[in-house]
Amino acid sequence: MDDGYVLPRRGSVKDPIRIAVLISGGGSGLLSLLNYQQSNPSNHSTKLVIADNVNAGGLRHGENFNVPVTAIPLPVLIDKTQQRMVHEDHIHEMLINYDIELVVLSGYMRILTPNFVRKWKGRLINIHPSLLPNYPGAHAHRDALADGAEKTGCTIHLVDEGVDSGKIIFQQEVPILAGDTIEKLQDRVKKVEHQVYPKVLDEFCSQES
Ligand code: GRF
Repeated sequence: MDDGYVLPRRGSVKDPIRIAVLISGGGSGLLSLLNYQQSNPSNHSTKLVIADNVNAGGLRHGENFNVPVTAIPLPVLIDKTQQRMVHEDHIHEMLINYDIELVVLSGYMRILTPNFVRKWKGRLINIHPSLLPNYPGAHAHRDALADGAEKTGCTIHLVDEGVDSGKIIFQQEVPILAGDTIEKLQDRVKKVEHQVYPKVLDEFCSQES
């Protein structure tokens, strides 16, 4: 792999890579990951769940699996740059405190600053609901439908300093069907995401450095 894109060690079932999952909402992806880790020999293990808001439903999934969870909302600061920096410093501190080796974004709706990305480069991974580079950003399904696309999918990629622009690790196509709404398409794509993300993470965590 490219420089800066290698996990510091190889995970195994006996000694899995310690994962933190960052979420913003319902956390169906987190739930699929926790279920997978519970019922399969896995090279990764979730040790921390962080949400950027206290109302993120996914926090409950962590609690149900006895994984430490925490909500770290944006601090109240007028200077927006300062606000993002303080917020990410807080997240970084938690990741260090829990000896986290890999940060897994799963429906985390904030763009991370280059400052944070550089600290975790190669150890920061995301799933995006489109076939990147098509339809980056927060409205992938809306944009795919508006474009009249016949297929979309999901992309698992390393996070770099851009938006949904890091090195692609895995993609899977999903058809767009006549009569699709954003919700129908989102459900179809999520089903695939839930199947593939835990498995791709398994491969990623066991790669030779
Ligand atoms: C997923 O579709 C993921 O690709 C996108 O956000 C969604 C998360 O959904 N980044 P959930 O919160 O895991 O249900």
